[in-house]
Amino acid sequence: MNVLIIGSGAREHAIAWSAAQSELVETVFVAPGNGGTARMGGKVRNVPLKATALDDLLLFAGDNHVDLTIVGSEQPLELGIVDLFRSVHRAIVGPTQAAARLESSKVFSKKFMQLHGIPTADYHVFRDFHAASTYIELPETLYPQVIKASGLCAGKGVFIALDRNEALKAIRELFEDRIFGDAANEVVIEEFLEGEEASVFALTDGITYQLFLPAQDHKRIGNGDTGKNTGGMGAYAPAPLVTPEVLQKVEERIIRPTLIGMGAEGSPYTGFLYVGLMIDRGEPSVVEYNARLGDPETQVVLPLLKSDFIAALQASVDGTLGDVPFEMHEKSAATVVIASGGYPDHYETGKVITIADEVADMENCLVFHAGTSYEGGRLTTAGGRVFSVTALGENLRESIERAYLAVEKIGFDGAYYRTDIGVKAL
Ligand code: AMP
Ligand code: GLY
Repeated sequence: MNVLIIGSGAREHAIAWSAAQSELVETVFVAPGNGGTARMGGKVRNVPLKATALDDLLLFAGDNHVDLTIVGSEQPLELGIVDLFRSVHRAIVGPTQAAARLESSKVFSKKFMQLHGIPTADYHVFRDFHAASTYIELPETLYPQVIKASGLCAGKGVFIALDRNEALKAIRELFEDRIFGDAANEVVIEEFLEGEEASVFALTDGITYQLFLPAQDHKRIGNGDTGKNTGGMGAYAPAPLVTPEVLQKVEERIIRPTLIGMGAEGSPYTGFLYVGLMIDRGEPSVVEYNARLGDPETQVVLPLLKSDFIAALQASVDGTLGDVPFEMHEKSAATVVIASGGYPDHYETGKVITIADEVADMENCLVFHAGTSYEGGRLTTAGGRVFSVTALGENLRESIERAYLAVEKIGFDGAYYRTDIGVKAL
């Protein structure tokens, strides 16, 4: 079969790598892909179409006998790509536009969780500066408070306000300076949750689901979880924080009620469900849902999947997910993101990249590209996050050490990476 993967990050490179492993697959198209997917060769080919060019993607899928389309990033989901493909009976993995509101509207997801008794922080919704500032000034409003634009902001629309002044500054930026435009027409202000974060991903056909290994992201730019929030600077799996007992609570209190609730609301949820958790003394609550796989978590959870990924995806589309194997390797994985200097603020692109030849031969090591471009035989930087270097090991320590060995052999002007990925789990 032929598959089409939509997106251009390291997540999509990892999905393409997994798809290429499948004996079921003849050709893997990636739209638009990146320098890494351009260099894979074999079954994998880049297609110069943007992830948001829905009509063109549908035409391409028809013209090229694509049997299964896999949506990596959130924008096409919010735009309704799943509804469009399904309207002409073209198989696609992802939630409909209505179901993707679990990610694309924080107001929707908070109301949904409240209605269905799913544990999450208490919250209020505001539509203008005046009402929000009144709430912020109330003597009974205790700090920190977490302030979030309701719409999609590429993971950057969240402020943790330690006091009133910081809260006022945040709502001024959202409502008056409109730094996120219409994505902040509605703003959620919620209680600050204590604990440690982890991510759990399910693949679901709307009723049945299968779980990947729990993972932990590193969202801050600096070592020791300091500095600004980013798209994610590294990850590892399995996350020991998510014990079997915690995972059971996540399934019973979060995943099952989410699938049942979405079905009851007339928007059955299909595709990948990402549950971002805060775990406090063994009790999980939801920080956010995403309607897709996480980046960089995908770069550790997919290499740990032993079963055929494409067979599972096809089963999720056919409604037979309970009938396919979904087994994991008994190993650990770590991924380290190499970013452009200056990211997540201003950074330069177009830097020439060198990768030592021996990296290709390093066992249990996978160099996933994110913001790279490969043209005329030259590999250059083309984004904020440039690589996600994954290694597998018998245990977490081994996988972390292997990943850093490879990271040190990749260079470009201004390259930056955290040196403490996974350390807190050791
Ligand atoms: P979100 O985009 O909702 O995942 O938020 C981004 C990050 O902000 C999360 O990964 C957390 O680190 C932090 N965060 C969001 N909501 C809360 C909360 N209620 N309490 C504590 N931290 C939070
Ligand atoms: N790892 C965070 C995200 O994918 O949104």
